[in-house]
Amino acid sequence: MDRFHIVGGRSLRGTVQVSGSKNAALPILFSTLLGGSLEVDNLPSLRDIRTALSLLSQLGIRAVSLPESPDEEPGSSMPGTSGEASWTGAFRLWEDELASFEAPYDLVRTMRASILCLGPLLAHRKRARVSLPGGCLIGSRPVDMHLNAFAKMGARISIDHGYIDANTDGLVGCDIHLAYPTVTGTENILMAAVLAKGQTRIFNAAQEPEVTDLAWSLIRRGARIEGVGTSTLSVEGVKSLSPGAHSVMWDRIEAGTFLVAGALLGESLTVKGLDPSLLISLMTALSEMGAAFETKGDSVMISRIANPKATSVRTEPYPGFPTDMQAQILPLMAIADGPSTVVETVFENRFTHVMEMNRMGANIDIHGSRAFVRGRSVLEGASVMASDLRASAGLVLAGLLANGETVIQRVYHIDRGYERIEKKLEALGARIKRVREEAAQ
Ligand code: UD1
Repeated sequence: MDRFHIVGGRSLRGTVQVSGSKNAALPILFSTLLGGSLEVDNLPSLRDIRTALSLLSQLGIRAVSLPESPDEEPGSSMPGTSGEASWTGAFRLWEDELASFEAPYDLVRTMRASILCLGPLLAHRKRARVSLPGGCLIGSRPVDMHLNAFAKMGARISIDHGYIDANTDGLVGCDIHLAYPTVTGTENILMAAVLAKGQTRIFNAAQEPEVTDLAWSLIRRGARIEGVGTSTLSVEGVKSLSPGAHSVMWDRIEAGTFLVAGALLGESLTVKGLDPSLLISLMTALSEMGAAFETKGDSVMISRIANPKATSVRTEPYPGFPTDMQAQILPLMAIADGPSTVVETVFENRFTHVMEMNRMGANIDIHGSRAFVRGRSVLEGASVMASDLRASAGLVLAGLLANGETVIQRVYHIDRGYERIEKKLEALGARIKRVREEAAQ
């Protein structure tokens, strides 16, 4: 297991390019189970993307990596095994055989998003057997809303030996009222609805930009979807999808993480390749804390806030403050001029990073779903343990800020969602290095 060694206190300057979004890429990759073929680019080089490609390969989806220049020959690399050097972020994927319908535990357990196989497999192959998901240890994360929707659309569903077993004679469109705007649930139902017979309307749908990106990728392949970007999606089922191409959107959470890094340590740090209108809740919170932004086209420049002011945030579905950003804003709150609060409304048990930040000198109390941050702390380097993807990003930011050396264990969590984060930070002036397990012994 790799770890990061960080020596804190260095300013960050220069420009960092935001990668493609993991959370948009995964549903788009799984949508290839709806049939047809897809050329997709801007895929980030991440463990979760490779896991998705391996899972798709087991389900009869073939993939070849496409060259960066159209003059080169397409690669013959097996999906999921391409190394960093050969990663172009572009693939052509197509359905090669339809016989398989099982997403096994050993792959699903490492990536909760594998549940996104269920909707497209059911809609297209009429049978799906998907292990109940694992993934980050943040709350219980049930999938009842997905299953209720598929049952209403005509699927027979049972759970046995930890697997969801579902089959249908053909999904039929209907009205789905979601009790909560679940992101993965909306994506799963949307994909199923694309090939269901007749009209499906999803009320209280998630409006996250990644859901919108999936919808546009499906529309490019002939899906008939209205209400994209709103809380009511209306889908008229089609018989099959056509070949299409899509470029995955930029990663909002990676962009947000670098903006917070800029608020902590930036000297005219520019974050490039984003659309600031999709980051309004985060930028509002940072402004309240004293940040000033210079926005030019797809770039935002930010510098260190000299005396951060305390503030409060409440995580909510988009366009609210993202649950995926609360761990990263905590170090800034820890050094703010007074008490701040984070209310976590999306997941229970998502404050595992707080204990580790307190070991670095933060003063944060958890009461149920609230974190009370005392402020005016001086962070000191320590040896800490990453517990989930975004928690690790929060610890990296705390380490960049802290006096002395911070060692972060279990950085495999961060590798699931941040492309070469240590390289990107190093290029901005941070002192951060990855120590491989073998080298560490
Ligand atoms: C959530 C976040 C998303 C983030 C991702 C990874 C929201 C609304 N969603 O998406 O922004 O990128 O985690 O951290 O911010 N739930 C049920 N039953 C279901 C489905 C969900 O009870 O069938 C509950 C979950 O337990 C959770 C909430 O609904 O409390 C949100 O879940 P959902 O949006 O589905 O989670 P993700 O899609 O993982």
